[in-house]
Amino acid sequence: MSIHYCEKCMSFFLQTPHTTYVCGIVNGKYLGHIYYGKKLQDQNLRHLMGVKADPAADNINHGDTGIFFDNFPFEYNFDGIGDFRECALDVHTSDGHHGALCEYRSHKIFKGKPKLQDLPATFCNNENECETLEIELFDPVISMTLILSYTVFSDVDAICRHVRVKNEGSRPIFLDCVMSAHLYLPEDSYDVITLHGSWGRERGICRRELPYGISRAYSKRGVSSHQAHPFIAVTSRNASQTSGEVYAMNLVYSGNFIAQTDGLVNDDVIAQIGINPEGFCWKLEYGETFTAPEAVLVYSGEGLGQMTRTFHDLYRNHLIRGKYKDRKRPVLLNHWEATYFDFNTEKLLDIARSASRCGIEMLVMDDGWFGNRFDDHRALGDWVVNEEKLPGGLKYLVSEVNKLGMKFGIWFEPEMVCPDSDLFRAHPDWAIQVPNRENTTLRWQYVLDITRPEVLEYVWASVRAVLKSANIEYVKWDMNRALCNIGSKDLPADRIGEFFHRYVLAVYELQGRLVTEFPNLLLENCSSGGGRFDPGMLYFSPQIWCSDDTDAIERLKIQEGTALIYPLSSIGAHVSVCPNHLTGRSVPFETRGHIAMFGTFGYELDITKLSEEDLQMIPKQVEMYHAYNDLVREGDYYRLASYAENHGFDSYMVVSKDRSKALLTMVAVAYRINHRAYKIRLQGLDPNARYYIPAMECHLTGDALMDAGIFVPTPWAGGDYRSFVWTIERDD
Ligand code: DGJ
Repeated sequence: MSIHYCEKCMSFFLQTPHTTYVCGIVNGKYLGHIYYGKKLQDQNLRHLMGVKADPAADNINHGDTGIFFDNFPFEYNFDGIGDFRECALDVHTSDGHHGALCEYRSHKIFKGKPKLQDLPATFCNNENECETLEIELFDPVISMTLILSYTVFSDVDAICRHVRVKNEGSRPIFLDCVMSAHLYLPEDSYDVITLHGSWGRERGICRRELPYGISRAYSKRGVSSHQAHPFIAVTSRNASQTSGEVYAMNLVYSGNFIAQTDGLVNDDVIAQIGINPEGFCWKLEYGETFTAPEAVLVYSGEGLGQMTRTFHDLYRNHLIRGKYKDRKRPVLLNHWEATYFDFNTEKLLDIARSASRCGIEMLVMDDGWFGNRFDDHRALGDWVVNEEKLPGGLKYLVSEVNKLGMKFGIWFEPEMVCPDSDLFRAHPDWAIQVPNRENTTLRWQYVLDITRPEVLEYVWASVRAVLKSANIEYVKWDMNRALCNIGSKDLPADRIGEFFHRYVLAVYELQGRLVTEFPNLLLENCSSGGGRFDPGMLYFSPQIWCSDDTDAIERLKIQEGTALIYPLSSIGAHVSVCPNHLTGRSVPFETRGHIAMFGTFGYELDITKLSEEDLQMIPKQVEMYHAYNDLVREGDYYRLASYAENHGFDSYMVVSKDRSKALLTMVAVAYRINHRAYKIRLQGLDPNARYYIPAMECHLTGDALMDAGIFVPTPWAGGDYRSFVWTIERDD
């Protein structure tokens, strides 16, 4: 890892363990992108910007700058000055003029990584682990400073970028678009990958040929959303799990975003990620700075699998925090699918008693414990225990659960208020709303305007009081609707474009307070399943509920798309009942356990109603979880076959960092009659080491397992939805 500035070629070299990123200065002022890819030695690469090797020879013809501005591979480009491609920065003045042209002013290179103001971001665990480059650019016409920040790490091939804009002029300026990363890629045949879905079908992998013009994933829902994801990967056309080039970007942010490519007519490509400019406008007064969220860039020259493992390592080591960062999480049982709103203390204790007998370690009480919350039509905001359901309150229930040797967790949806609630009746103006327009309910609820200090303080005080009232060791923080009818009492007209971002900052403020005041708490974020599963939330909670679709077969696709970027340790996954409540599908209990095991693992069912056969399987699954979770949490993840890609079966493995142990999972989804065997080529093993697979009673070298593969006889499967998890151990 290193960052170096070459005076002679006026270029910056950023080196990660296996990748290089280069940008340079042209005409003494324009910052251009030069190279991102496999590791190269520091050398003069200025010809890649279409200019001479010697900066003294730079001669941009100022009689005709337009040709230059619209063609130059800007490191970060500007709207309004004759660059007609998708621009990274769009700003207007109080006179209404758009445009900026920021020129190189200075730079600094230093050890460590500064925090981002009010925003979650990756961090280094000690100063020597990373190095940061900050390039300062300046627009003299509007007195605006732009700082482009880049951090490289010693242990992971990622580059974390962010941008700060400062108004140094006497009059306000308005930011209409500030991308967090802008990447200029040279002509090639590319595909583009984004993640899309809906409620219950999050993060499906969507791959297509990169088109001319714009290809965009976006959210304008106020959350990162079920429908799209703050991620984009540009890959070489033939890129697979194990080969080909991948340029990926992920935004450490939980609100509106765009992730897009602009396929240019000269066949080059621009890739960008940042806050969605639609509905965004940030007013900067003199001396004020705006910090855009962090973008993570990953290059892999060895296909998508390597990209995945880089993101996993980065997030496990440099984003996820707190007590449970590197720890096994308690096996929990959440009663949501067991009872929905229909529960009371006795019912919960019945469940807890059976659960504790099976080795389950925590009971999570979901929605319905407060106010008049007998269904989802009412009471959000009234965070007072409903003693009709829970006589003796939380104190009694929690102490009874604790007596069983179990921990206790609780559900909240702090950002919301129902029109039918005491809170709304007392403070109707606390909901986000546009005056005189009938407010839109979604799931019978409004969103609280937590950008207002008094509302934020109410929310914080409510959550805090409940958590202080009993021995609560886990919180599921839910968020079940998108934001619309944007209006806020405190924001003047020229600041209403700040609302969405201010909302996200308020969520971060609340969650920051939560993890600071309750450092032992296990926080699990959730948003109608996985509607806010993003790196921003991972900074606060080591795990996020992945989807309300708990059907194990559907989960194969959802968890595959999620694990494309996020570590298995972060993926909330539970065993639920069959027929599944959403899909009606029945899958063997064993298979449900195998699939949940490659996430956080837990149960979401009425354990008191299980068949004896299923019940008896729980202690075995819990034992398996304890045996394998260290490997699942810490190991390298390899995708071997994908049901989502129509392979008819799903297979993946996790290999320990020292390559001495591995777990191989296979799920037969559509059983193939008269088919000799499923062939699986393993990955990630040491080719020269010998391994033992107890289930096959065979000893083979890593190269044989990876190059020749193994044949799993189809009759073994015994029908659709059968699965196995096999251990593989080094034995030389
Ligand atoms: C949506 C969540 O995803 C579910 O798990 C559950 O907590 C419900 N909300 C409760 O309303």
